[in-house]
Amino acid sequence: MDLLQKILSIAQANPQRIVLPEGTEIRTLKAADRIISENAAKITLIGNPEEINRLAKDNGLTNIGKAIIIDPKNHAKKELYTNLLVELRKKKGMTFEQASVLVEDPLYLGCLMIKNGDADGEVAGARNATGDVLRPAFQIVKTLPGISVVSGAFLMFLKDKSYGENGLMIFGDCAVNPTPNAAELAQIAISTAETARNIAGFEPRIAMLSFSTKGSSKNEAVDKVVEATRLAKEMQPTLMIDGELQADAALVESVAGLKVKDSDVAGKANALIFPSLEAANIAYKLVQRLAGAEAIGPILQGIAAPVNDLSRGCSTDDIFRMITITSNQAIELKK
Ligand code: ACO
Repeated sequence: MDLLQKILSIAQANPQRIVLPEGTEIRTLKAADRIISENAAKITLIGNPEEINRLAKDNGLTNIGKAIIIDPKNHAKKELYTNLLVELRKKKGMTFEQASVLVEDPLYLGCLMIKNGDADGEVAGARNATGDVLRPAFQIVKTLPGISVVSGAFLMFLKDKSYGENGLMIFGDCAVNPTPNAAELAQIAISTAETARNIAGFEPRIAMLSFSTKGSSKNEAVDKVVEATRLAKEMQPTLMIDGELQADAALVESVAGLKVKDSDVAGKANALIFPSLEAANIAYKLVQRLAGAEAIGPILQGIAAPVNDLSRGCSTDDIFRMITITSNQAIELKK
């Protein structure tokens, strides 16, 4: 997978400040050690310094000495971050006392570091559930201008190279929004297009998927996809996007030829947007398991600075890769 090598090289050329809130989690620590040794990011670890140093020593992680270590219970910017959190959440009724408890939570602290300009991105989730990683990111880092929903895309490296871009496709939203409405689905398409360009390195041809192709079924679920397609085109008139399409009409030229006229997407889609989280999450796991695809993600998109969530079953390699992807997203956002 040359793309992953390219992502690593981009990260190495411009090392970003990446914060890892699960600094005492061993896979995270091993990934951090490798990132530092390969000069792919400047790492900040959140956690008890003695524990981090002991784990590093016991596991022969000699590069951890070069990371910044922040003790969530005792560090120089605690009051500053507490005030920042109160400021950000005062409309929600947050008091200084409540905020001073939350700033000791590494997942809140990591996002506050980003918000205050002390880090460029965050990777977490080896130890914490998705919701617990995402909630502080939504509340503190917030979304990009013009986007109100953060979503999650997967890069799918297929064995069959006849699909997508020589076997590479992108699927969204496989991770965050259970039941997006038409406007949210349009934003998911726009955000996935950005991830396709900025991380996967290709110009997207987006299929807005449904169980219907161009009016073959009448249903409000179909109407939602049609409306989302219209809204996405309105948001980005030059975007190659078409819908509603069934998966075969999106992917197979011969089927597209029978069902769709004049489409720059049908039969050759490289980006698939699913109508719900159920459909997307099930689809990416089926393609991964039944077709032997490598699935990389979720890559969170639409967020004002990159925060990425790991699966709790992740490997050290997965964390290493996600740090390099997060760095690439940070570099793109600064352009
Ligand atoms: N984008 C941006 N902000 C959001 C989003 C979103 N998609 N969803 C919620 N928010 C904001 C809300 O506006 C709210 O902000 P506020 O406090 O400033 O008003 C805050 O986040 C909390 O919102 P809630 O509605 O209370 O959200 P909750 O915390 O209950 O849920 C969550 C958010 C956890 C992400 C939920 O959407 C969820 O569980 N999604 C499914 C995640 C999941 O299980 N994915 C599958 C597994 S991942 C995988 O397999 C790869």
